[in-house]
Amino acid sequence: MAKLAIIYGTGFGNTGIMAKAIEEGARSAGLEVLIKKVDEASPADVEKADAIAIGLATYKGAGMPTVIKYVQSLSKLQLKGKVGTAFGSYGWSGEGPIVVANTLKGYGMDVIEPPLRIKRIPEAEGIEECRKLGKMIADKIKR
Ligand SMILES: Cc1cc2nc3c(=O)[nH]c(=O)nc-3n(C[C@H](O)[C@H](O)[C@H](O)COP(=O)(O)O)c2cc1C
Repeated sequence: MAKLAIIYGTGFGNTGIMAKAIEEGARSAGLEVLIKKVDEASPADVEKADAIAIGLATYKGAGMPTVIKYVQSLSKLQLKGKVGTAFGSYGWSGEGPIVVANTLKGYGMDVIEPPLRIKRIPEAEGIEECRKLGKMIADKIKR
């Protein structure tokens, strides 16, 4: 079974809601999913995945530092050709997921763009978008 690793950081839970909806969509499309908060994650969690989704909220014009650091720590892995994506909740500028998507591209990953960004608390429509992203990741792995 193809594997997706979702690693995310969230201050108030909004990006966490997104992560769980992406998980649901991916599972419904037949993927095996590992989902972890960044504080509990290590590079080994994504090493064997076919796809990696990184979630982070934006604070003070930047992505959450814990997630940015985690993504930097992946530079030592061989991620070339794997499917990647970034997502996150934001308030007004939403830089975090853009920065992460660019870093994943720099690792040679096949990145789904633009990153999925949802303003504040995800409502039904946003949650549906997240589920769709989970399915899109599954489709992209199979291709
Ligand atoms: C102190 C503080 C700083 C913030 N700075 C930004 C910012 O620079 N840009 C932005 O788009 N949103 C900013 N936000 C809004 C958060 O990104 C938004 O509340 C988001 O929903 C939080 O997601 P989370 O619950 O996953 O942590 C800020 C929020 C707080 C409390």
